[in-house]
Parts: sequence; C-alpha cells; structure tokens
Amino acid sequence: MAKPWATLGIDLHLEPTGPGLRRGLTDALRDAVRTGRLAPGTRLPSSRSLAADLGIARNTVAEAYAELVAEGWLTARQGSVTRVADRTVTPPTGTTTALSPRERPRPAYDLVPGTPDLAAFPRTEWLKAARRAFLAAPNQALGYGDPRGRAELRTALAGYLSRARGVRADPERIVVCAGFVHGLQLLGKVLRARGVERVAVESYGLVPHWKQLTAAGLETVPLPFDELGTNPTELTRDAEMTREAESTRQTQSPDVGAVLLTPAHQFPMGVPLHRDRRATVVDWARRTGGLVLEDDYDGEFRYDRQPVGALQGLDPDHVVYLGTASKSLAPGLRLAWMVLPPTLVEEVTAAKGGVDTCGALDQLTLAEFLTSGAYDRHVRAARLRYRRRRDALVRALATHAPHLQVTGIAAGLHAVLRLPPGTEQSVVQAANWQGLALHGLTFYRHEAAITQPVDALVVGYGTPPDHAWAGALEALCRALP
Ligand SMILES: Cc1ncc(COP(=O)(O)O)c(C=O)c1O
Repeated sequence: MAKPWATLGIDLHLEPTGPGLRRGLTDALRDAVRTGRLAPGTRLPSSRSLAADLGIARNTVAEAYAELVAEGWLTARQGSVTRVADRTVTPPTGTTTALSPRERPRPAYDLVPGTPDLAAFPRTEWLKAARRAFLAAPNQALGYGDPRGRAELRTALAGYLSRARGVRADPERIVVCAGFVHGLQLLGKVLRARGVERVAVESYGLVPHWKQLTAAGLETVPLPFDELGTNPTELTRDAEMTREAESTRQTQSPDVGAVLLTPAHQFPMGVPLHRDRRATVVDWARRTGGLVLEDDYDGEFRYDRQPVGALQGLDPDHVVYLGTASKSLAPGLRLAWMVLPPTLVEEVTAAKGGVDTCGALDQLTLAEFLTSGAYDRHVRAARLRYRRRRDALVRALATHAPHLQVTGIAAGLHAVLRLPPGTEQSVVQAANWQGLALHGLTFYRHEAAITQPVDALVVGYGTPPDHAWAGALEALCRALP
C-alpha cells in the first residue's frame, strides 16, 4: 500500500512493519507505545476516524486495538475511548537522562527491592503509640537532646535487639541515626579521620552505600563471591601482605581498615554468610584492629530457616551493628540505629555534630511501639503476608518458568531469579515493557568485582500492595524467557 501510515491526529507517524494491514498497524502502535512516542494516557482516535485516515476497514483498526488491549498496551472501557495504558515505556536512546523523575512514566508494578508495602504501615497503632508516648513525655523531651538519641528509644532498642537478634546491646553504646545511609556516612567520616583508606565491601550490594564511603574519602574494595556467599579470606591475605610489608619495611600498607557486610542475608543474593566465614571475619578484625560494619537491614524477615543471629554477638568490640526501620516499618520514618564498640561512641556523636539529628516525637513513638509489643505484632503479621507472596512467586515460577532457578527465598523481601547467560538485559527491558520496574543483578554489581558475572533478576516482592501482587506476578511471568 502506497499510503503512508498517517498521523493519528495526535502528531504521530506510523510505519508498517510487518505483512498484512492489521499486523502492520498492531506492530506500529506497539512500537510507538514501547518507545514512548505514544505516552501513557494518550487518547487514541476512534477506530472509525483512524480507519478513514488510513483508508482501511474499520474492523482492521478495531481488531488491532483489541489485540493491544488484550496485551496490556492500551486500555479501553465499554463505550469509552481507547488510551495508551499507564505503564512504563523505554524512552528512545539518549533521552533517559533528559527525563526528570516526575516526567518519567510510572511503572504499573514496582519489583525493585528496598521498600516494604507502605499500604500496610500500621498507621492506627503508630498513632496510638505516638499519643501515649507524647502524653507521657516530660517537657524536657522537647528540648535539645542527647546526641546519641532519646534514652527511651536506646533502652527499648537494647532490649529488642538482644532478645530478637542476639545483639549485645547496651543503651549507652547505641546511637540513633536518620536511616542506615546516615549511619554509614557517620562511620565513613570516623574511619577516614582514623586514617583508614580502604574498606572491603561485597561484590554485590547497593551503589549508593558504596558512594557514601567514597564520599568520605575511602576506597571500596570488593571481596569475591562464590557458592558459599561472600568470601572474606582476601581480608586475611591482605593482613598477611601488610605484615610482610611491615617486616621487610617495603611498600605502603595495602590494608583495609573495615569491611561492610550483610551477614544475615546477603543483599541482594540472599544467602547468609557461611559459619566458617563469620569466624574468619571476626578473627581478622581482632587480629588487625579492623572494624566490621554489619548491615542487618531485614533480619526480622525469615521464613523457613532458623534466624541467623547478629555477627555483632560474636565480638561487640570489633563489630558495629546497624539496624533500620526502613524494611520493618517504612523508609520515610528515617530511623535507624547503630550499636557501637565503646571506643567509637564519642567519635560517632562528634561526627554527628554533637546534636541529635532525629525528631524526638518519632523516637519516643518507636520506643513506645517496641515496648508495648506493637512492633512484634506488626512484624509477625508482615512476615506472614510476605511469606504468602513469596510462596505465590515460587508457585508462579514453577508453573510458567520451571527452567529458571529461584534462590535467596528463605528470608527477606526479594528473590534472585537466574536467567540463561546473555539474556539479563533483554529480560529487564521486556519486564519494563510489561509495566514492571525491575532490576537485573548487574545493577547491584560492584564495578571492580572480579567474580564471574551471573545473569539474573532481583525480584522484590515487598513493595506492591496486596491487591496488586497477582497482577505483578502475571506481568513478571509474561516477561520471562
Ligand atoms: C542492603 C540494605 N541495607 C540497608 C538498607 C536501609 O537503608 P536506610 O535505612 O537508609 O533506608 C536497605 C534498604 O533498602 C538495604 O537494601
């Protein structure tokens, strides 16, 4: 057909891409949605007027629309207009950075790990705890507080952490901070001030966390990762090299002064740090005076394995324990805590500027939430809910993608789905087209990691509200190879 595939009356030129009128139109429309030329929510012309524009039968257009509605690219309600579905598109190359987060189309489902189900935040219980805490608080609670944080919260945390996580906690050694990231910022400053130059990290983790350390002037050095998880024997090798260098008075010390780990549940691979390796890390810290920074970000969520206690319990003088309310409650609270070796407390509060940086009311509320038992009740209910989602994920994968291995499912709020080699990027893209926000494992890989790359998806199942979970699963399964 010589006729061009015309504009839709909305300034969009369609080119036929396949044989046959209907197929050509369907492909052209799909491509326009996929690449963002047709933005989410865009109203399409009626089948009658588009058919007239294109000089083709109305039925051909109606059938093309119906097919794209069935695939989820378009939406149409009985008797109403056809629109582009509210889903993620892949903008044409080069425009990704030009779009501000506000301009970017919102994905229909968010499977990026990190945020729990915010619809399940225990608002009523939290408000009750806030009311009780505020009414009981002395006037002086509204003044400038202890730079370590409110004593009520530090005491409540000490009780909870020793009972639930095996942390050797003492309120005097707890410092409250505005999220794990803030704690890491403070520790980075302290380490640098102590003359540390390098910090060992895991091959897989969160780039923003490594950036906090880099911003403090520290180099991050990834440890290898194998089938047993993170392998800390490099630390020992490093220490041996240092001793040799010192004894022969050769080069500068190549030593790392600290190691950042997720021992209970490696993020994002999902395995606990192997028993022998826990001992190796603690031995290294004792021998060299190094510091272990233990990120216990989701220790509350374990399903069918024994809880892995905090590494800090093995040596509270060499391990800094870091916990957060970001997974168990909500990241917007910006509440986290560090249990420090006694020698570090003063340096950390000095790095904090000598002031408390978290609001007294939120701290008092969390203290009340913990001591009243509301936190335990909330975590127990959340654990059940996330476990159900995890089970549904495993079942759906067993049905739709039995050839793909899913790992890291015993704990936490995400799973790792292994993919055939070389397919990660295209699967992530296909998932985006299905309206899913989703990351491949490469997103979490340290740029200097020497570990053999693995193609995989990191599937967070915490974020979608309960009613959206089935839809998210369907979209995920549609995107899988
Ligand atoms: C590995 C890891 N550590 C820590 C955190 C918590 O960070 P924050 O307390 O700053 O929200 C998260 C949250 O996504 C995480 O994934």
